Amino acid sequence: MYLTREENEMLEGKHGFPKQKCMEILVGLGDCYDAERMIPVNSAHLVYNSTSLGKGGMIFFREMADQGVRFVINATTNPLSFNLEIWENCGFQQQLREDQEAVSATFAQMGALLSNTCTPYSVGCVPRMRQHIAWNESSAISFANSVLGARTNREGGPSAFAAAVTGKTPEYGLHLDRYRFGELKIVVTAKLKSVRDYGTLGYFIGKIAQDKVPVCTGIPPSVSWDELKLLGTAAAVSGSVALYHVVGVTPEAPDEAVAFGGAKCKDWQTIKFGEKELRDTEESLSSPLKEMVDVVAIGCPHASITELRDIANTFAGKSLRPDVEFWIETSHMVKAYAQAMGYVDAIEVSGARVLSGACPMTIMREILKDGRPRTIATDSPKLANGLGVYDATGGRVAVYYLPLATCVELATRAGGTRDDG
Ligand code: F3S
Repeated sequence: MYLTREENEMLEGKHGFPKQKCMEILVGLGDCYDAERMIPVNSAHLVYNSTSLGKGGMIFFREMADQGVRFVINATTNPLSFNLEIWENCGFQQQLREDQEAVSATFAQMGALLSNTCTPYSVGCVPRMRQHIAWNESSAISFANSVLGARTNREGGPSAFAAAVTGKTPEYGLHLDRYRFGELKIVVTAKLKSVRDYGTLGYFIGKIAQDKVPVCTGIPPSVSWDELKLLGTAAAVSGSVALYHVVGVTPEAPDEAVAFGGAKCKDWQTIKFGEKELRDTEESLSSPLKEMVDVVAIGCPHASITELRDIANTFAGKSLRPDVEFWIETSHMVKAYAQAMGYVDAIEVSGARVLSGACPMTIMREILKDGRPRTIATDSPKLANGLGVYDATGGRVAVYYLPLATCVELATRAGGTRDDG
């Protein structure tokens, strides 16, 4: 791979040990994919929750910080392992809290913007069309590539970190025009009525596309960011889709010909998504609804301001049943915005909680270790897919994949506030 003089100096250790290690990671990665050169990146998004890093990861990053590592580009962070707001209810170990606080301090020392969200684009980190970035977190990657037209591969923890330290990434995969063209066509004929329906479509697409670039037709231009966010998140989880196009909607698909790079899509590459596929996919993600729900988890990916507004409206005049927890996860910044708008109060008067900065998947997995709860409802295909694992192995957890309005309906009764009993 061609390296500039500065990149070579980093590799030789002339800019210190941490940059040398990071450049070794990037050169190794570039060699695997036959990259010809490094390119500058504008931002990195880093996964840094203590449960994912483990002790080894925590020690590695501490040593890096102690050796003077400072990020040279904007580096945002993914959600934490837990929420302080529900710390006591969940019976988390003190050690978990200490570990996460230590990791947060380490990353702050290196200059990270502790956004603690999987939607960095909703807190001001919005890369431009064609801008090269190095992001970790599959849902954010999909959004950046598909909806914003920025360019990132599916970075792992080490390569995103190395990019933040050096400001570089090897040029291969989705950084190059030729890998961004459509490879199969999804014709959507089903009527998509909720954000969750777009998640269901995404889940279907991911299963079929795997790591290919799908091009969707039949989606109205009025589709919202929230809907596209869920579509991409689900396609990234059931497959490993890092980029999709929606004809007439996403920036690299003004029409079908452009989306496919001038190539003609063959018949066998065209798949229909109709009412039957919508229903079948929904069912594959949900346990049969038999029992009352114990916990409702919303906000995977983190809820946007418009979703919080809609949730507040859905809760109007309702109060939570006393035996149900209802958690909505968002970023710190969007929660502050929602507080200023009155949405947080409007939701919390019912007994539901608006939480910020953590990942509902990590939280649910942690509390499931104690055998609680038995039934979980969510509108997130990623959460339904991820928590379903416990259903299969333990056989004691039912995961209901439902539209938001049904989640609220199941968890509430009309009138009064939760304190009324
Ligand atoms: Fe975000 Fe955690 Fe879901 S990182 S996409 S809330 S699994």
